[in-house]
Amino acid sequence: MAYQSGVVPWDPGPYDGNLPAVIERHAIGPCRVVDIGCGTGGSLIWLAGMGYHCTGIEGAPAAIRQAQAKSKEAGTRIEWLVGSFPHDFAPPLLPDGSFDLVIDRGWFHLYTEAAERAAVLAGISRILAPGGLWYSLIAGKGGERPLSGPPRWSEAEVRSALSGRFEILELRASVFTPSERGSMPAWISVARRQDDGADRPEPSQRARSSRR
Ligand SMILES: C[S@@+](CC[C@H](N)C(=O)[O-])C[C@H]1O[C@@H](n2cnc3c(N)ncnc32)[C@H](O)[C@@H]1O
Repeated sequence: MAYQSGVVPWDPGPYDGNLPAVIERHAIGPCRVVDIGCGTGGSLIWLAGMGYHCTGIEGAPAAIRQAQAKSKEAGTRIEWLVGSFPHDFAPPLLPDGSFDLVIDRGWFHLYTEAAERAAVLAGISRILAPGGLWYSLIAGKGGERPLSGPPRWSEAEVRSALSGRFEILELRASVFTPSERGSMPAWISVARRQDDGADRPEPSQRARSSRR
């Protein structure tokens, strides 16, 4: 609805203003990257222009149509997928380990309900290659408009949600849109996939399945 009306309160501008510093701090060069809940795709268009191999996943078809138009205008080649992650993207559509980097701005933080969040974390972990990174921009508590907008997370809530599946490499206070005055507080979370997730097969099972 927001994308059809053109009123998009979370509009990042051309792309996520926190992203350049994230890829620099973590030395993330061109790789296979997916943006989940990519909106109109600005961050991917920016990354594709620098040689990253980009995929965008988005539940709102209107957003993807806008992303496709912007991408065409920019002359970038990006794979755009419409659907709800993780449920619409089981293998073979997105095989295990498809990406080296997952990014999301304002998508993961929507998952405050434990069971749904567990499915989302399992999905992210599954599509990441071993050692792959996940950058998430998560709304933080406080700020000028605490009663409106998305769920707000404390540092402890972010740490607790990711523990078990991801090793947090960075959890840094920022704002959602650095170019916007009074922008909502946010957490920059950069985490590495842990390879001992609860529902991963035991080594013996892995060996068995790889021999088939
Ligand atoms: C706050 S918006 C952020 C959009 C974009 N990342 C940005 O920064 O402009 C969250 C986005 O996630 C999308 N979304 C929500 N749940 C989704 C799901 N399960 N799978 C794919 N996209 C989803 C929404 O349609 C929306 O575009």
